[in-house]
Amino acid sequence: MLPMYIPRALLLLISVVAASPAFANDPLVSVGKLIFFDPALSEPAGQSCASCHQPDTGWSGPTSSINAAGAVYEGAVHGRFGNRKPPSAAYAAASPVLHLDPEEEHFVGGNFWDGRATGWLLANPAADQAQKPFLNPVEQNQATAEDVVNKVCEGGYGEQFRAVFGGAICNDALDAYNAVAQALLAFESSAEVNPFSSKYDYFLKDPKRYPLSQQEQLGLELYEREDKGNCAACHPNRPGPNGEPPLFTDFTYDNLGVPRNPENPWYRMDKAFNHAGSGWVDEGLGGFLKTVSRYAQRAKENRGKHKVPTLRNVDLRPAPDFIKAYMHNGALKSLKQVVHFYNTRDVKPGCERIKDPRPGKNCWPVPEIPENVNKDELGDLGLDKKEEQALVAFMKTLNDGWQPPEE
Ligand code: HEC
Ligand code: HEC
Repeated sequence: MLPMYIPRALLLLISVVAASPAFANDPLVSVGKLIFFDPALSEPAGQSCASCHQPDTGWSGPTSSINAAGAVYEGAVHGRFGNRKPPSAAYAAASPVLHLDPEEEHFVGGNFWDGRATGWLLANPAADQAQKPFLNPVEQNQATAEDVVNKVCEGGYGEQFRAVFGGAICNDALDAYNAVAQALLAFESSAEVNPFSSKYDYFLKDPKRYPLSQQEQLGLELYEREDKGNCAACHPNRPGPNGEPPLFTDFTYDNLGVPRNPENPWYRMDKAFNHAGSGWVDEGLGGFLKTVSRYAQRAKENRGKHKVPTLRNVDLRPAPDFIKAYMHNGALKSLKQVVHFYNTRDVKPGCERIKDPRPGKNCWPVPEIPENVNKDELGDLGLDKKEEQALVAFMKTLNDGWQPPEE
């Protein structure tokens, strides 16, 4: 879907981005990287994009103890928390502009779990997304775009910023703020953030030279089989028609019936941020669509649906005992648990807590939002333990930075 109105200055910026392939030594990418890692761009200073999106955890939440519990991150202001788990910031720039697929009658594209970074403003969801954390009071908490722009223009890399976007870029706060977004988009589109260097990528290029182990191969088969894991239905794993490497998401939305994460500190946040208090529910895409007049009538059927995340780097962690959180609210804590959830959600319902220590009580709590739960494609897969383990093993082949063994 084309944005309705793109200001002229912005078209110029977009053409700068489009004309420059995202090479590591590209000055636009370098400026984007400096912005991404700059802790000065928050109020008070100290929080950068990377504070919640670290490369060594797959561009996601960097603190094991947080992931093990509420899984949401504190903003620049002490005591203010967000309400969702940070998804990977990698491979996100490939998401199409949010649109309604006329044939399937479902929504595709956008950034954020609920798609509200649509791309309708700056023609790419990740560019729209990039302008939001700076001004979010529970994240980087800058009061205005101008404050961000002033720090960028007067900071250590202001000269580089002007060299890329033109000497006059800092004269107009809106143009400059759009330029910040374009620089972040370029970095998030770069080979550094999207290296496609997992074991599975090597395997796709040359399966004879870089074979999967027997267990990983079984996992791949189960992943694709419609009568088994059926994971590929939403997390596609085959290369595109021109050999494009797979992104492991079709950028659609679904309600998997994930239970709430009671440890999320958002439930206890000040009424100024969370007016629903402990009764808050995450409506996902439906919650966003309510705010868009032309789609508001579709809100109900999309209540509780969240964007299918990429599975690239889903296991990447700095140490084997580092805990990662999964799903929009981080309620699940390991890939083993995720697969067990897909496999047995409807077989073992009715618990209060996800891991209930009482004997015979190890089952699944009710979904956070019971409407629109997908019961066709998951919930009772009939996988045995060996098959569950194989699916986990396959997902572990999706970590970037794999080193082929010495030949
Ligand atoms: C305080 C933690 C925090 C900070 C700081 C932060 N993010 Fe995020 N990021 C999140 C959370 C949480 C989400 C999901 C929010 C939602 O879905 O409502 C997210 C979502 C995203 C996404 C969407 C990915 C997708 O597939 O939809 C991208 C891209 C991203 N962030 C990039 C950035 C950039 C660029 C910055 C700096 C300008 C940044 N983030 C700063 C926590 C953070
Ligand atoms: C019907 C579509 C669909 C199918 C089929 C599906 N998934 Fe998902 N997957 C999703 C959605 C949507 C989410 C996010 C849900 C949420 O956060 O509430 C998700 C989340 C995940 C996550 C968490 C990733 C993260 O960063 O938090 C993993 C891991 C995962 N899926 C693996 C699998 C595996 C393995 C299978 C097959 C056994 C599978 N999925 C089948 C749609 C699907």
